Amino acid sequence: MAEHIPTELNKKINSQDNSLRPSTFSDFVGQEKVRERLLLCVEAAKLRGEALDHVLLSGPPGLGKTTLCYIIGEAMGAGVKTTSGPVIEKPADLAGMLTSLNHGDILFIDEIHRMQRTVEEYLYSAMEDYVIDIMIDQGANARSIRLELPKFTLVGATTRSGLISPPLRSRFGISGRLDYYTTEELAKIVERSAGLLDVKIDKGGALEIARRSRGTPRIANNLLRRVRDYAQVVANGKISREIADAALQMLDIDASGLDEMDKRILRTIIEKFNGGPIGLNSLAVSIAEEQDTIEDVYEPYLIQEGYIKRTARGRVVTPLAYDLLGIDKPFAISQQEELPF
Ligand SMILES: Nc1ncnc2c1ncn2[C@@H]1O[C@H](COP(=O)(O)OP(=O)(O)O)[C@@H](O)[C@H]1O
Ligand SMILES: [Mg+2]
Repeated sequence: MAEHIPTELNKKINSQDNSLRPSTFSDFVGQEKVRERLLLCVEAAKLRGEALDHVLLSGPPGLGKTTLCYIIGEAMGAGVKTTSGPVIEKPADLAGMLTSLNHGDILFIDEIHRMQRTVEEYLYSAMEDYVIDIMIDQGANARSIRLELPKFTLVGATTRSGLISPPLRSRFGISGRLDYYTTEELAKIVERSAGLLDVKIDKGGALEIARRSRGTPRIANNLLRRVRDYAQVVANGKISREIADAALQMLDIDASGLDEMDKRILRTIIEKFNGGPIGLNSLAVSIAEEQDTIEDVYEPYLIQEGYIKRTARGRVVTPLAYDLLGIDKPFAISQQEELPF
């Protein structure tokens, strides 16, 4: 259990997250499709005076899953209780949480794909019929009792929608996948956060931070804080494009927005595996990182930005990756670049 107790650092990061977290749908930038669908369902549920249908949110870390859950709670006027998949050890833990909810409340289960199967099965009847059958006593006295639950809304968040079992998935009435943000959207988020932090920034400064944020609001907000410190010391606190650029260079934040691990993945595929194709397993072993983390956290962005392609035989880097790292392309690849498709 120790690994789930937040460290001081985690607490600090979370509380920083909270101060910049938008609390209404109108402050939530981007993700139009997901936002509109949720807004509509919330309005409809409110009109009917019912609890909102269960919601499954998926997507890479830092894109706004937790934020959306709180926004839904706020919009529904509902209480939000949070927990996470791996923390719920036994069915009784789940039963305890469910019975403590009030009518219309939200139970937020983060990392829901990491919930134990034995616990997950209890969730089915809870989600569908708002009851949970729980075994009490042991041996000859063992019996099952049925607990009635308040009508609640389960909001599940996952970085791996592919790992959600079909029976669980089918019990969510609403689901939304969050994607990486565009530079323009991130610039808007940076400007909003700068306002909240009382930092002066111009459009150029916001765009420069946005470009280097790996499509991720959490990173954009973190970079803003670091650029702010630099600007306070060298530029009377005002962030322009030049100041942002100088600060980010000093911090070794790449102009492409890729982080150390992104580049290590590309470099490894090129240097150790001749650019691929390479299986996920071998890649994971070479960079000493878990397969899941590569697949959920790193690869989606590298694929979206066109540095990696997934083929039937494994991952292959593209000419862009060679350019980024300043490595000469092998003949076959520079040829391939000339082709018109
Ligand atoms: N659409 C958005 N608009 C504005 N800020 C956002 C948005 N999405 C995320 N953020 C910011 O990024 C931080 C991380 O988002 P979070 O919801 O914790 O991500 P996740 O739960 O998906 O890992 C939030 O605290 C918030 O400040
Ligand atoms: Mg979260």
